[in-house]
Amino acid sequence: MERSVVTIERHILEAERQFPEATGALSNILYDLALAAKLITREVRRAGLVDIIGKTGAVNVHGDQVKKLDEYADEVIFRALDHCGHLCVMASEESEGLLHIPGEFRTGNYCLLYDPLDGSSNIDANISVGTIFSIHRKVSAGPAGTLEDCLQPGSRQVAAGYVLYGSSTMLVYTTGNGVHGFTLDPSIGEFILSHPWMRIPSPGQRIFSANEGNFVNWSSRQQNLLNHLKGLDGVSQNPFSARYVGSMVADVHRTLLYGGLFMYPGEKQNPKGKLRLLYEASPMAMLIEQAGGRATDGERPILDVQPTDLHEKTPLFLGSLEYMDLVDRFLPPSDESLEAVPMSAS
Ligand code: AHG
Ligand code: MN
Ligand code: MN
Repeated sequence: MERSVVTIERHILEAERQFPEATGALSNILYDLALAAKLITREVRRAGLVDIIGKTGAVNVHGDQVKKLDEYADEVIFRALDHCGHLCVMASEESEGLLHIPGEFRTGNYCLLYDPLDGSSNIDANISVGTIFSIHRKVSAGPAGTLEDCLQPGSRQVAAGYVLYGSSTMLVYTTGNGVHGFTLDPSIGEFILSHPWMRIPSPGQRIFSANEGNFVNWSSRQQNLLNHLKGLDGVSQNPFSARYVGSMVADVHRTLLYGGLFMYPGEKQNPKGKLRLLYEASPMAMLIEQAGGRATDGERPILDVQPTDLHEKTPLFLGSLEYMDLVDRFLPPSDESLEAVPMSAS
């Protein structure tokens, strides 16, 4: 063995020791999220089989109805965290309103926002999906959490992360002290530190990741950016490669490891695009910035955006610093002309 074997529990504990004033609450929330990730992994790995084995009763021993995976993941996360005593409220992509802590359990000083199953349209095709989470400190008065606790800008996140259910399951998180990745060893059921201190490569690989099928609905600035990346504006002889899974967790994970540019811009009918600020864009922005990259909505840092609605959407651009500079050059503040921006080589 060349390196110590560090479990996620040990890693979180060691990190906590550096802050003598830490209560352990945040660590406990992260453990419980890791537990939820294992339960979701088990179910994701059986996708496609549940209809078959579930009906025989061989697997579905509890007599539960076979659930859609996103509903299952939503419930698992809520139930893994509702009784931990450290959360005052939760919010999920799957529920319109706030998810209050049941009356029989204690409440705490943190608020959890999550996307239980990201990329759910990919699940039937056996393509990677994920979970995204964002944690804020409680700011409202009184024991119960309120909307005010959830509607905080990303810069106030105390932790953020995602789980990627890919060829292996990985949990990647930050508490503001670097980005650390853990791979689940299914034989022992432990997340083992496999990617300490993750940094987005700079210069990163020349990869762009966007749903180009929306090209016709993009602004001319956005179209110009794409044309530049593809070498169609004649400026660069070295076009980017295209990679787009359609599961944000997978696309962002690749961007974190290889570098490049991930984008989900606004569209004519949907000026704010598709991705949700609180439980998709903000946590990914915290991770990417902690890893040395940048994330914006095309005009300002995602982490500076003050949310006004639990499920609000935002355009999103994130990636390696040098490619984010290109985004700034092609998408300057909206009052400028929509004509092509003259480019120097890049
Ligand atoms: P979700 O499955 O949580 O609704 O999120 C899907 C998101 C995201 O994962 C991905 O980046 C994007 O939708 C893909 O959208 P398009 O199909 O429009 O490209
Ligand atoms: Mn999603
Ligand atoms: Mn989802």
